Amino acid sequence: MQDLIERAAQTIRTARKTVALTGAGISAESGIPTFRDPGGLWDRYDPEEYATIEAFHRDPGKVWRMMKDFTELKTALPNPGHFGLAHLEQLGLLHCIITQNVDNLHQAAGSRDVIEFHGNMRQVVCLSCRKMLPLEEISLETLPPYCGCGGVFKPAGVFFGEPIPSHALYRSQDEAQSCDLILVIGTSAVVYPAADIPRVAKEAGAQVIEINPKHTDLTDWLADLIIQEKAGIAIPQIIAAIKAIAS
Ligand code: APR
Repeated sequence: MQDLIERAAQTIRTARKTVALTGAGISAESGIPTFRDPGGLWDRYDPEEYATIEAFHRDPGKVWRMMKDFTELKTALPNPGHFGLAHLEQLGLLHCIITQNVDNLHQAAGSRDVIEFHGNMRQVVCLSCRKMLPLEEISLETLPPYCGCGGVFKPAGVFFGEPIPSHALYRSQDEAQSCDLILVIGTSAVVYPAADIPRVAKEAGAQVIEINPKHTDLTDWLADLIIQEKAGIAIPQIIAAIKAIAS
């Protein structure tokens, strides 16, 4: 493994522009269950019942009760994987993060340039007047919560069946097409269009480094370097190797 860590460190050090694509796996060590791992969120909640926009319109109270139960999202803290990417950004070795996560942990770890591809569940949006507020600023005493305009508030994450925020979609495409290295961390790469970003980068000539303890849809056909390890372990090791090379 050390050899792979050192190759990743050398590749990151010499890259012209590095972008990271992250998924639920990077937050697993913060206590937030992933979606598709055994015992994951989609084992606990049927996504057809809780994660489509149709399901929200059908019964917003039911979706909000799930959100209220999902305490991990509110209490979770960043882990060494998140802090490692923030540190790479500070070192000028990471240009931006494209995240599928809605947990705000990259920002909490100090990352400044984070593209929220699937929105952010720590905010709410009124489906009538489009007002956006931090989750903490609304009462969840009665569910669903309503806006002063009479509209219903929805968590500001992207539900299945909703479009990706256009600024996030176009900017992610631009960054993928102009990078020469993409770090793909903690995603099963089965949900599109996010899962297409590594292919866009690869076809533009970028190298692909995958960090994931398990095999994914990308491992065999797209990844140039595969680090089958947890992000919270691999990323700090890569940073230590970068510093060792520089010293
Ligand atoms: N470090 C790195 N990767 C990990 C770790 C870890 N500690 N623990 C698990 N993983 C990997 C798993 O092996 C798996 O490949 O993280 C991946 C999690 O995959 P999913 O649960 O499918 O999550 P993700 O790829 O982010 O899902 C994409 O699907 O449900 C929707 O909108 C939701 O953004 C989400 C999208």
